[in-house]
Amino acid sequence: MNILGINAYHGNASAAIVCDGRLIAAVEEERFNRVKYAAGFPSAAIRYCLAAAGITLAEVDHIAIPRNPWARLGTKLLYAIKMPSFARERAKVLARFVGIPEALAQAFDTSPEKIRARFHRVEHHQAHLASTFFVSPFEDAALLSADGLGDFASTMWGVGHGQRMKISGSIAFPHSLGLYYTAVSQYLGFRKFGDEYKVMGLAAYGQPAYLDEFRRIVRTNDGVGFRLGLDYFRHHRTGPDMTWSDSGKTPEIAPMFSDYMAERLGPARDPAAPVEQIHRDGAATLQARLEEVLFGMLRALHAETKQKAVCLAGGVAFNCVANGKIFDQTPFERIFVQPAAGDAGLAVGAAYFVHHQILGRPRAFVMENAYWGPEYSDEQVRAAVNASRLASEGMEIAELSEEEIAREAAKEVAAGKILGWFQGRAEWGPRALGNRSIVADPRRPDMKNILNARIKHREMFRPFAPSVLAESTGEYFEKSYPSPFMTQAYSVRPEKRAVIPAPTHVDGTGRLQTVTREANPRYWRLIREFGNLTGVPVVLNTSFNDNEPIVCRPEEAIDCFLRTRMDVLVLGNFLVRKPPQAGAPR
Ligand SMILES: [Fe+2]
Repeated sequence: MNILGINAYHGNASAAIVCDGRLIAAVEEERFNRVKYAAGFPSAAIRYCLAAAGITLAEVDHIAIPRNPWARLGTKLLYAIKMPSFARERAKVLARFVGIPEALAQAFDTSPEKIRARFHRVEHHQAHLASTFFVSPFEDAALLSADGLGDFASTMWGVGHGQRMKISGSIAFPHSLGLYYTAVSQYLGFRKFGDEYKVMGLAAYGQPAYLDEFRRIVRTNDGVGFRLGLDYFRHHRTGPDMTWSDSGKTPEIAPMFSDYMAERLGPARDPAAPVEQIHRDGAATLQARLEEVLFGMLRALHAETKQKAVCLAGGVAFNCVANGKIFDQTPFERIFVQPAAGDAGLAVGAAYFVHHQILGRPRAFVMENAYWGPEYSDEQVRAAVNASRLASEGMEIAELSEEEIAREAAKEVAAGKILGWFQGRAEWGPRALGNRSIVADPRRPDMKNILNARIKHREMFRPFAPSVLAESTGEYFEKSYPSPFMTQAYSVRPEKRAVIPAPTHVDGTGRLQTVTREANPRYWRLIREFGNLTGVPVVLNTSFNDNEPIVCRPEEAIDCFLRTRMDVLVLGNFLVRKPPQAGAPR
């Protein structure tokens, strides 16, 4: 039984393949077409998924599309009557989604009649919920999906038992925690798609000084719900003005905050203007109010479901700062967030929704690691090294055993070198988790500056993240509940903050990845070797890229290594050192 999930014509286009209930592959289109957050039709991702499963399109039994244009039709019609531009946009969306069999046939140079698979439309948030619950380790769990907007809803919740999910509520457009976060981020001068992350980092530098006002921006009751104070927004008047380009370009979003927000909070920050304390406090209040609302909803969801475990999905589930506080702020004792909690994850969710909820098959899979993307054989890596400029530019190239490579690489990191670390299958989701990572010494207070100056060029208020051996988590962090996908931030133990200053944020937290030997033996070994050398089984881990999607192929890793001021590159069992003069003065 082969089920192909396709998230198309939406940010983070992606594909996933599930064979007999097991996830075989899942990947975002951006990793292939090299356009961050790419929308459009994920032809390359589908092609990769089929190849990884060793099947052709003709052997796919079911195709799951995480979008149902017919969902909430009544609400959509009401808006269409009020807003003709919105009606036109909806008509375009509908035409695209109805045309998915044709797009697929075209991509595979066949005719739609030759695709024998049955097509299923799965509502956006049901796919989100399926993407987390059906691959979680829990037999029973409360479920919450929260994001900007999908199929005209922003939020959905319910409970999962075995192979069934029961939905108990949802919140429709225009009320949305994701759009709230986006609109205030835009107001604070962060206008690009995906900038919410930056604002979450900035929040730690401020105080929640405007909570009274923000409690009017998002209003709550005692249940699992909230409403936006619509005066502060404009999306309900203009329609959700997001451009998902067909050409696979990065999505764009029009400003969603109203003049009234600026009247109440002061003028919006020009993106080119400096970030001041008022903006830091605005970010802190934005985050604090999100947490209040989210925890209130989770407490109500707990009261409703009486479950110990909760599965989260949707863009809001990427809020690692909030996730890290769930154990303190709600009665939930266990949490699961899969690595592609945002819309890329819909491809996995739709496929599992078909497998369990529609076909009634029993559960047989737990997502224990994030490595569902492309991998390259030793021969392919060797060919990429040989075809590159590495040797001609005077790099020292060594081929080592698996043990040696971890030991040598750890020595370089302990000596303050910046390491590009490329191994095995690419990560699923936006976080590098030890297969396409840049690794550095967490003990150096200046490492954040060095990384920013030499490679990442990020705003200084954005934190870098730590990877810690799972068995040492409690020694360094105040909580030890696993965070294998970097979806929770925990407080670093006060006595350890000076030990790992580089990935410790200004508020004393770290968005950690807990690494087990089972999930990633090579990365685990690298961190253990670093621990043996330094006494600190933690490394700083940031994504292997430079203002682009995370590298996917060895050629892209080599190119990024040559283009930036990284010192050492490990590709499989190859270790490449730049000559000393190529490194930067520190
Ligand atoms: Fe979504």
